[in-house]
Amino acid sequence: MENGPDIKRFFEPRSVAVIGASNVEGKIGYKLMENITSGGYKGELYPINPRGGEIFGIKAYQQITDIEGSVDMAIIAIPASFVLEEVRRCGEKGVSFLTIITSGFSEVGESELERKIVETAKSYRMRILGPNIFGIYSSKVDLNATFGPKGVKKGKVAIITQSGALGIAMIGKTATEGIGLSTIVSLGNKSDMDENDLLEYLANDNSTKVILAYIEGITNGETLLGSLKKISRIKPVVVIKSGRSKRGALAAASHTGSLAGSDEVFDSVMKQCGVFRAESLDEGFNWIKFLADTPLPKSNSCVIVTNGGGIGVLATDACEKYNIELMDEPEYLKETFHSAIPSFGSTKNPIDITGQSSAEVYKKTLIAALESNRISSVMALYCQTADFKKEPYKEMITLIHNEYMSRGKTIAFSLVGGREVEECVNELKENGLPAFKGVYEMVSCFGVLHRFSENKARREMEIAESEIDVERIENILDNALSEGRAFLLSQEAKEMLDAADIPTPKSFVARSIEEAVNGAEDMGYPIVMKIVSRDILHKSDAGGVALDLENKEEVMDAYQLIIRNAKNYDPHAKIDGIEVAEMIPQGLETIIGARRDRSFGPILMFGLGGIYVEVMKDVSFRALPMDREEVYSLLKDVRSYPLLLGVRGEESKDIEELIEVMIKVGTLIRKVKRITDIEINPLFVFGRGKGVKVVDIRIMIAMEKEVSE
Ligand code: ACO
Repeated sequence: MENGPDIKRFFEPRSVAVIGASNVEGKIGYKLMENITSGGYKGELYPINPRGGEIFGIKAYQQITDIEGSVDMAIIAIPASFVLEEVRRCGEKGVSFLTIITSGFSEVGESELERKIVETAKSYRMRILGPNIFGIYSSKVDLNATFGPKGVKKGKVAIITQSGALGIAMIGKTATEGIGLSTIVSLGNKSDMDENDLLEYLANDNSTKVILAYIEGITNGETLLGSLKKISRIKPVVVIKSGRSKRGALAAASHTGSLAGSDEVFDSVMKQCGVFRAESLDEGFNWIKFLADTPLPKSNSCVIVTNGGGIGVLATDACEKYNIELMDEPEYLKETFHSAIPSFGSTKNPIDITGQSSAEVYKKTLIAALESNRISSVMALYCQTADFKKEPYKEMITLIHNEYMSRGKTIAFSLVGGREVEECVNELKENGLPAFKGVYEMVSCFGVLHRFSENKARREMEIAESEIDVERIENILDNALSEGRAFLLSQEAKEMLDAADIPTPKSFVARSIEEAVNGAEDMGYPIVMKIVSRDILHKSDAGGVALDLENKEEVMDAYQLIIRNAKNYDPHAKIDGIEVAEMIPQGLETIIGARRDRSFGPILMFGLGGIYVEVMKDVSFRALPMDREEVYSLLKDVRSYPLLLGVRGEESKDIEELIEVMIKVGTLIRKVKRITDIEINPLFVFGRGKGVKVVDIRIMIAMEKEVSE
């Protein structure tokens, strides 16, 4: 909201009123008061209850307007039917933020009541969190204004959650996992404040090192992407999103749409923004804990130390998946480890001391790795052996971890074995150490840490855009809409591409044999001819296409044949003429699609055509706008990308021109708001320096004049 209250007052309120505060145990108004008082809130606390008196030993006010001092935040926990009236009173009082715990609004169909509440709040320049939430915890002022557990552990992780129940569970889980929170905020119905408002503060909040967001649905996606792109360079953002629904895809009108299932798009877009998407709560929690506590690796030199060959291989595979480079300098590794490990061990990375070695050898080897100036991260793997004893191992791991972590080394431990080993891992975790039961879980944590280092190194680049003739394009759309069409005819689409400077085959519409022949002679052979009729959509089925025509005679014959076929196919069809176009040589078939996504606004899709898109669904997505590097990464994301580089002796393709066209298509959908879908399929890409050419295009437009993004 423009000119709204300072978001700082939301996370660091100087005074809080609890509307619905209660002395009756079991009520939410009681639990809120209990959590706020026992949490040691640093500001002024005002319980509000029509009975007055005292609540939790604090003077209660009958109405918020009775309070003399100012109120930064009002927490509302009274039945839904009374909320609007209280919101109005809060407005009169000059409250800045409303945290509405109460349920019973848009989530159960009571959208009108919710709308009125938001409208009223807006008229007083108040912001609303919720309704239908469990509240907010903020470590800055020791405010636990939630009805979740007491005694939240203070720390460096901020959690934003759309699910209330899960949020409460997460507070409990953070405590057991030894994760400290800087804040946790429940978003609920997002009637007003959403992720964007909170991220704005968290980006610069020095007590937050890592952000975890649990998301169910996205509103205001374009703004969110902008903030995520910025923030993910400063601090790591982990997202857990529920729902791998295909509903969005079902409703889609175009091919691009049907491939752009909401989950695929979400996945790609999060990657684009530098956000780490966790597959599960457990994975997300492993990541946030590791990211919050572990120093960033100073280089790419990673070493695995193991006493088991098998888990060493598992870890190596996982490193490949997460793009973690393992140090590969045999001489250096030999020199570093030969005195620590037994003669039958291996100094090739993974450094394998074998199962026969004692705890002492394990410790010596770890120390050798951690003392090295050239090794910046160490993955310590351990397979249970006969000599395993929990306490000495726990002690050794703790000592090593504390010593070397404080010296900036990136280190984690994965211990695999029976009950005693698992207990050891649990206890290490509870003490805040990066200990894991699974090898894969540990490596995935290193993976996000490495990716965050890359994010930090990423420069902010200029948005890639092209010049397009918007006015000319708007006229084409007006014309189509005036004829009641939500799509463009091929000539119109071609004209639009011309206005955007996207290369199309040379063509014209002939209305007589003479026009066809004269034009073809000027254009040069070979050419193709196609029927132009809005009543004939499938031209080939109607016998309305002739390919590879080499001379004047063939053009004359084809003209007559196409007209005859079309009339036989549909005697009532209105024939506008015959399109004569240059015949383009076969290039590598690609597909470029652009559409307006319901959550993220305009998105761009790229894939290789033919079976790659039809069968393998090998496509990739990015949200617009993009810089040139992002466009390039969109190409590289498809599995069939090597075909563009040229395989089996084929020449490499004109990637530069392909990128130019993608930028132009992106500019088209962003600048011309009435276009809903663009699909160039196929776009032929020729050898390097030989360009690209649109072979077929489909453009859909919105019937309404004004389209909001
Ligand atoms: N101003 C101040 N106090 C008031 C007002 C008012 N206008 N009206 C009533 N009160 C007082 C009541 O007198 C009562 O105090 P008392 O115990 O001293 O009598 C107190 O406020 C609470 O009112 P009740 O009528 O007793 O309401 P109750 O506590 O039963 O329910 C609640 C209120 C909890 C907000 C309920 O309506 C509700 O929405 N529950 C669901 C909350 C929820 O789950 N939110 C989503 C969380 S996320 C998740 O899924 C976990």
